[in-house]
Amino acid sequence: QLITWDTKAAEKGGYPHFMIKEINEQPRALRDILTGRIAPDFSGVDLQEVSLTAEQIKNIRKIAVVACGTAYHAGIVGKYVMEKMLRIPVEVDIASEFRYRNPLIDAHTLTVIISQSGETADTLAALKEAKARGSRVVAITNVVGSSIAREAHDVVYTWAGPEIAVASTKAYITQLLGIYLLTLFLGKELGRIPAGEMTDILHHLYQLPKQAQDILDHLNEQLNKMAEIFNQWEDTFFVGRGLDYAVALEGSLKLKEISYVHAEAYAAGELKHGTLALIVKDVPVLALCTQPDVFEKTVSNIKEIKAREAHVIGVAFEGNKEIGKSVDEVIYIPETLPLLAPVLTVIPLQMLAYYASVHRGCDVDQPRNLAKSVTVE
Ligand code: G6P
Repeated sequence: QLITWDTKAAEKGGYPHFMIKEINEQPRALRDILTGRIAPDFSGVDLQEVSLTAEQIKNIRKIAVVACGTAYHAGIVGKYVMEKMLRIPVEVDIASEFRYRNPLIDAHTLTVIISQSGETADTLAALKEAKARGSRVVAITNVVGSSIAREAHDVVYTWAGPEIAVASTKAYITQLLGIYLLTLFLGKELGRIPAGEMTDILHHLYQLPKQAQDILDHLNEQLNKMAEIFNQWEDTFFVGRGLDYAVALEGSLKLKEISYVHAEAYAAGELKHGTLALIVKDVPVLALCTQPDVFEKTVSNIKEIKAREAHVIGVAFEGNKEIGKSVDEVIYIPETLPLLAPVLTVIPLQMLAYYASVHRGCDVDQPRNLAKSVTVE
């Protein structure tokens, strides 16, 4: 008997597309980036690859995060996380903007460059610009030996493994982990994170791979079914506040990139300054509600949305009994610290985008007009 060997199918490891394979690799990717980096007694993180001295860290007056696309969205999470933990001002820029705007960067600025491929032309140029102005540069990248890895002073590798699908999933989630690890490292050096809080965060970080696996195991069917709503709608909205807003940006990008459904991400409190006019009967709205300090505020925005009879899908931690009263459906994710929520919240949004793309018959792994790595300006 002749055995035919389909190499393409073999590479996908039994999955129909690279994207869903890579979504399913996320628990493993999270485990890999954490391996060896959490101190055994949960007292701090080990980032030997970052050679910044205590003196250099004390001199940081500003952090500039620069990236493109999905990596830029990881950077926005970074702004919320670093400002909260380090109390240092953080600016996040799109690389193609940063490099041409004569940025206010000097030797007291730490530049954090985020890039999956390590080869994005605008991001690499931004890195060189920051270096030329005397800034220390830490790169968070997935590709060992890439141009960005070679140019940066220090590199935090994300160890996500090769990512083939154009839409980034496991790279994004590990970029978030890179940001947390870097923040905890800097925060400890600066003495800004009390020991008890450090231990608590590290314990929760350690749980994330298992919790990510729970989402994949338990939400698959629900999300596949839910994504059918995008067969009827060409427009949708993602709203949230704080870190939820940062994840809303990434969730909406995923949907746009691969299913061509127009998705607009909005800070929930900003809706009434414009977009509320577009919210009409039955239009799908994803409302991210994982941040307790702004929960009530988001709920009141959801009420404004419901008053226009939109179809609201909430995303909240398990055990949140309140949210069900205000929305039509809820996607429940395992509970973690609000600070770490983006790592878990983004997974159902990736899956929704994936299934929307499949239902709409799109080319999931190679969406039209997009490239995995953009090495031209
Ligand atoms: C391209 C990809 C995006 C990616 C962006 C930045 O546009 O399609 O998925 O986020 O480049 O890529 P990088 O490799 O620098 O993270």
